[in-house]
Amino acid sequence: MFKHAASILREAEAIVVTAGAGMGVDSGLPDFRGDHGFWQAYPAYSRLGISFVECADPQHFAVDPSFGWGFYGHRTNLYRDTAPHDGFHIIRTWIERNNADYFVVTSNVDGQFQKAGYADDRILEVHGSIHRLQCQTPCNSAIWRNDESIRVDEATMRARPPLPRCPDCGKISRPNILMFGDWSWLPDRTHIQEQAFSRFLAVNAGRRIAVIEMGAGSAIPTIRATSERIGWNYEHATVIRINPREPEIAAPHISIPGGALNALQEIEAHLKPGPALS
Ligand SMILES: NC(=O)c1ccc[n+]([C@@H]2O[C@H](COP(=O)([O-])OP(=O)(O)OC[C@H]3O[C@@H](n4cnc5c(N)ncnc54)[C@H](O)[C@@H]3O)[C@@H](O)[C@H]2O)c1
Ligand SMILES: [Zn+2]
Repeated sequence: MFKHAASILREAEAIVVTAGAGMGVDSGLPDFRGDHGFWQAYPAYSRLGISFVECADPQHFAVDPSFGWGFYGHRTNLYRDTAPHDGFHIIRTWIERNNADYFVVTSNVDGQFQKAGYADDRILEVHGSIHRLQCQTPCNSAIWRNDESIRVDEATMRARPPLPRCPDCGKISRPNILMFGDWSWLPDRTHIQEQAFSRFLAVNAGRRIAVIEMGAGSAIPTIRATSERIGWNYEHATVIRINPREPEIAAPHISIPGGALNALQEIEAHLKPGPALS
């Protein structure tokens, strides 16, 4: 399995990295699978009986912004303070070794790929980014960098004033993240990233493409569907699906049950040129 994945990666001319919340787990970040995992990560919400879906509700955010910014402010701080695990760097080594073209597609909003040195114009953040803000109304289509410092009372999970505001209308701003049942999210930045990804696929259509998928859940299957679309529609594409709980994918694609960091290290052990024999 690791050997097979290594043989695909050794030959890859283009690498597509597809990642869900599980990619961050080995960096110490929570995934949100089910209320149980979410409540373990956020005991304050467990006490209040509030679910992930309720936290990521734009209406809730609008009527109670200190609650909304409590959730997103805490996550902003968490992602700013987190260093991407070594698996991010291992994949970059493969890209450099093969001189491969690459693209990252992720539902994560945490900016960890940029932090690990992946180029901003080679990343598609399908649900937006916590490191970008927009007006809550929105009064216009501006999307700007999140340079706010947000203080959160961890006992109540409420943000302390002053809350981030729109520089144009003065109303509360919000992260440029697609929430549940969200009609105010501005998709423009993600659309530009989608166009860049389409160009990447057009250029690399005839090449040997390795898709490395990590930590993408089946509850919101956007990332899994992206990997499969490439795997089944491009003649020379192979998907390597790494996931401890739901690694299933049909052959000739490769299923690796396990965590991202460990699996990437195992593959690298098969790939790394050994010491020269004399
Ligand atoms: N870091 C983030 O930005 C973040 C975190 C949580 C949720 N979200 C949002 O919530 C939604 C959650 O969907 P999702 O599918 O990304 O997450 P999910 O929580 O539904 O699923 C996580 C997946 O990761 C797997 N996993 C757990 N530990 C792993 C490890 N060590 N290595 C590899 N895989 C591991 C699990 O088996 C599961 O399949 C997304 O739409 C996303 O926008 C984002
Ligand atoms: Zn505004």
